[in-house]
Amino acid sequence: MANYDLIVIGSGPGGYVCAIRAAQLGLKVACVEGRETLGGTCLNVGCIPSKALLHASHQLHEAEHNFAAMGLKGKAPTVDWKQMLTYKDDVIGQNTKGIEFLFKKNKVDWIKGWATIPAAGKVKVGDDTHEAKNIVIASGSEAASLPGVEVDEKTIVTSTGALTLGKVPKTMVVIGAGVIGLELGSVYARLGAEVTVIEYLDVITPGMDNEVQRSFKRILEKQGLTFVMGAAVQSATTKGGKATVTYKLKKDDSEATIEADAVLLATGRKPYTQGLGLDDLGVKMTDRGQIATDGHYATSVAGVYAIGDAIEGPMLAHKAEDEGMAVAEILAGQAGHVNYGVIPGVIYTHPEVANVGKTEEQLKEDGRAYKAGKFAFMGNGRAKANFAADGFVKILADKETDRILGAHIIGPAAGDLIHEICVAMEFGAAAEDLARTCHAHPTYSEAVREAALACGDGPIHS
Ligand code: NAI
Repeated sequence: MANYDLIVIGSGPGGYVCAIRAAQLGLKVACVEGRETLGGTCLNVGCIPSKALLHASHQLHEAEHNFAAMGLKGKAPTVDWKQMLTYKDDVIGQNTKGIEFLFKKNKVDWIKGWATIPAAGKVKVGDDTHEAKNIVIASGSEAASLPGVEVDEKTIVTSTGALTLGKVPKTMVVIGAGVIGLELGSVYARLGAEVTVIEYLDVITPGMDNEVQRSFKRILEKQGLTFVMGAAVQSATTKGGKATVTYKLKKDDSEATIEADAVLLATGRKPYTQGLGLDDLGVKMTDRGQIATDGHYATSVAGVYAIGDAIEGPMLAHKAEDEGMAVAEILAGQAGHVNYGVIPGVIYTHPEVANVGKTEEQLKEDGRAYKAGKFAFMGNGRAKANFAADGFVKILADKETDRILGAHIIGPAAGDLIHEICVAMEFGAAAEDLARTCHAHPTYSEAVREAALACGDGPIHS
């Protein structure tokens, strides 16, 4: 068996990025992946396929709602679900093959199969035991289960089954108003399903800026989604291809049931660490089932590191990627580092929702004096031309120093716009720095500049 400097377990965005970066830095690297294709949850059954369906269903929404007003007459297209799934699978294929190409280009060996770690420095795959100076675990996460909810991935599905439903359901219940529930819920709503979202809390997308939460919920309701808030789902069962969901309302403990053609369980994900032999190896876990690591991704066992969804922090592909790069650099003798204060979060609905840094609620809790500069897309010419004037940009800056502390955007291309604020934050910029930067007209990014202006003397267009 070959001896490696590094074996990475898992080829999702954390693992494959780590493997490629380590190889670029001169290490001899292998990556173990048990799936048929590289790319992990994100490329195969997560971020990428869901974006394909979001894109296709958004095109339909545009045709149904905005084409006629633009002078584009004729019947709106109908949904060929089989073809939409083929398109989605094609997008997956292009991306997973892309990683295969990058592995070859960077001389990363793909070891096919599921790995266990019998001892530090050893990785067993099938009958072969490979040796490595260091091991990085990037095994990702899986959908968390909910007691009483009987997932069969046909009628009652997780995000994985939601990408391969036999047909577009007439009615759908989504359990959990988090990122997955709202992204996939809005796909099916646009394709014609009547979607009811049942959420335990009194707000959607917990942890997000309250003003964004309220605005986001109003916009989704306008798009036809129905919300049952403050309701704990007790059970979901199937009979004859129909599902019945029972929930209890927190306000009066009353129980109610709702029937649907499909149910999406989206109440969170948990680290996927089974089968690696971590118990026997003596790897310490946190009380939330994550692999415990120090500030340099080292586990309690020398030579074994962990990154991504398997460790603490937000379960985001780009957080895993950054950790993959950082640990590769550390293992190559460099100073790898991730700035956890500047990790953007994006929800790819339409409009998109994006955030970085602190929320107003967190700043209040910290007792920090801040100012909020806000600008509505209604005042942005490009957004109006594109039927995308719902939403706003909000920038939070220190009251004294004007340094940007956070930003919250709901609106067109929010997931792209947020990055100019991320860069500004990385450079410790003040809102005035953004406000004094020339922004091309007409672009959505002018709304970011206007929000920065609103932190000072005020925006021009509102
Ligand atoms: P989530 O944690 O975002 O939301 C789960 C929701 O379910 C919460 O609002 C919670 O209050 C609710 N809930 C929990 N138990 C419930 C019950 N019994 N009845 C009703 N509601 C209940 O989880 P989600 O959406 O499953 O996403 C999982 C992970 O995947 C997250 O960490 C997310 O960041 C990540 N992800 C990120 C994406 C992105 O960045 N665009 C896309 C998809 C997933």
